[in-house]
Amino acid sequence: MLQGKSIIVGITGSVAAYKTLDLVKRLRNEGASVSVIMTASAQRFITPLSMQIASQGTIYNDMFEHPLSHVSLPAAADLFIISPASANIIGKYANAIADDMLSTTLLAYSGTVILAPAMNWRMYENPILRKQLDYLISLGIKTVGPEKGSLACGEEGIGRMADTGAIMESVYTVMTPQDLNSERVLITAGPTREHLDPVRFISNRSSGKMGYALARNAKVRGADVTLISGPVSLDAPYGVEMVRVETASEMHEAVLEKASTSSILVMCAAVSDFAPEKVETHKIEKTESMTLNLRKNPDILSAVAKLQKKPFTVGFSAESGNRIDRARQKMESKHADMIVFNDILKKDAGFDSDANEVTILDRKGEKTLPRMSKDDVAAEIFDRVVELKKI
Ligand code: PMT
Repeated sequence: MLQGKSIIVGITGSVAAYKTLDLVKRLRNEGASVSVIMTASAQRFITPLSMQIASQGTIYNDMFEHPLSHVSLPAAADLFIISPASANIIGKYANAIADDMLSTTLLAYSGTVILAPAMNWRMYENPILRKQLDYLISLGIKTVGPEKGSLACGEEGIGRMADTGAIMESVYTVMTPQDLNSERVLITAGPTREHLDPVRFISNRSSGKMGYALARNAKVRGADVTLISGPVSLDAPYGVEMVRVETASEMHEAVLEKASTSSILVMCAAVSDFAPEKVETHKIEKTESMTLNLRKNPDILSAVAKLQKKPFTVGFSAESGNRIDRARQKMESKHADMIVFNDILKKDAGFDSDANEVTILDRKGEKTLPRMSKDDVAAEIFDRVVELKKI
């Protein structure tokens, strides 16, 4: 996502400085070129050599060693991140103080700035600091964190620097057009579990990766996102409201509760079509053979279609083979506005893979995409939703 982007990372004196090694590596892995500026205090916590290895570039820490870099670096940068941002740099920035390489370069920069504050809770809650931070925010400076938790000094409180994942999400957000910022997006992901007894259930191979990628993409494009997730082992996307469910009936109830107040619904979950007629309260004893009686689960998409106030609805269609006809039929029968067809027999795509190969179908046409990451598929799906909602 950051291919060709130039990012300045400023590091100030805080015990959280070591976390910035990982941030710099992640920015580079996404294709960005990273220039690092360290204050004198930052170098007491982490060595310039470690940062040089992580960034594969020059470390700027002295104005006079790199004359005019405080002008040339910001002129070429697409983004400036201060991680960690101490009370000192926040105070200097808000008061236009430029007395070292970092504060001077920051003052010479006119693009997007993200601050990741980190400090003791007493400093963070001090009204003087808060006033300075609020002033910077009023000028359009972005912040991420800090979080509550145990602090380096041994105290509990607000002041822990946001983790790398959260900082990366705010980087994606500021680098992405906010074309979903007026939307409330409801997404389902993962499998459902239909219990037979206290230890056994019927489920499927859905990992949740596709649905979670959709939630991340909608979030970085500015949407208010709720993710209704079946049981998966993925971390919750940053800034997304999570609703965890297990069975198809629970997912049905959760979707119906939120659908009328959502503007877009994406049903990516692999909802079990059937559930055992009876859930035994004791473990079923082993016999030579057994017959299971199943009942049909409610169809969630069809139920949403019957709502008086229904969102723009996107379904998925998991088919064995090139059955685009079945996908289109599902779009019609379930009254969806769009359906995403995936052939689950394709190698390294669909269930539990990091990639997918899909055709996006709607009432105006269809678009077949090559195999790509689930993050890229998610971006294509929302690109089309945005296009269709404009028509
Ligand atoms: O989770 P991953 O490992 O990343 O895998 C992604 C995926 C393969 C699960 C995903 O891309 C996908 O195809 N999801 C839909 C799977 C599915 O249940 O397809 P279906 O053809 O059986 O259902 C059609 C649509 O009806 C789906 O949008 C489904 O969510 C919905 N449905 C199904 C049953 C039901 N009772 N209610 C529903 O609303």
